[in-house]
Amino acid sequence: MKLAVFASGSGSNFQSIVNAIHEGRLDASVEVLICDKPDAFVIERATKENIPYFAFQAKEYENKTAYERVIIEKLEEHGIDFIALAGYMRLIGPTLLERYPEKIVNIHPSLLPSFPGKDAIGQAFRAGVKVTGVTIHYVDAGMDTGPIIAQKAVDLEEDETEESIAAKIHEVEHAIYPETLQKIQANLSRV
Ligand code: GAR
Repeated sequence: MKLAVFASGSGSNFQSIVNAIHEGRLDASVEVLICDKPDAFVIERATKENIPYFAFQAKEYENKTAYERVIIEKLEEHGIDFIALAGYMRLIGPTLLERYPEKIVNIHPSLLPSFPGKDAIGQAFRAGVKVTGVTIHYVDAGMDTGPIIAQKAVDLEEDETEESIAAKIHEVEHAIYPETLQKIQANLSRV
C-alpha cells in the first residue's frame, strides 16, 4: 500500500504510522505527506524521516477544486493508492473523492456519530460523558460521516481534564490507526 498521509498539525498520528512501518507492523510505505499548514510540526517529522511533503495554503488558490487538482498531481507523481487523514482539518471535496473512491480514511477523536467536527475532545469534556473514544472511518462528502471501520472506547474518570482526555485518546489513536491500516492493507491485497 503506497500511502499519502494528510495532516495539519503536530503529526503524532503521522509518526505512529511511520513507526509501525519501521517496526514491521504495517506493510505499507508513506510516500508523501500533504499538509495545509506550512509551519506545522508534522513537516519537521516528515523531513526527519526523509519523506517528501507538499505544503500549501488554501487561501492561495481560487477554490477547493483548484488545490485538490494540484494535490492529485502530487499523489499521482508518487503512485499513491491509499490516503490516510491524520488530523487534516479540512473537508475533502468531490475532486479528491472522485479520484480516490473508497480509498480515503480518517481518524477522529470521538465515538462517532457523537462529537463530529472540530474540538471533539473539548466537546466530550464539556458534555461530561463517561465514555468517549476514537473512530476510523471511510471519508465521504460529509463532516465525519462516512462508513465506520473501527472504534475503540476510552473510559473517563471523575477528575479528567481536557489534557488528560487528549492523552488517553492519543494513546489509543497511535495503536489503532496503524492496526486498522494493516487490516485494510491485508484485505486489499486479497482481492
Ligand atoms: C488527532 O487527535 C485526530 O484524531 C484529530 O486531530 C488530532 C491530530 O493529532 N482529528 C480530527 O479532529 C479530525 N476531525 P496529531 O497531529 O498529533 O496526529
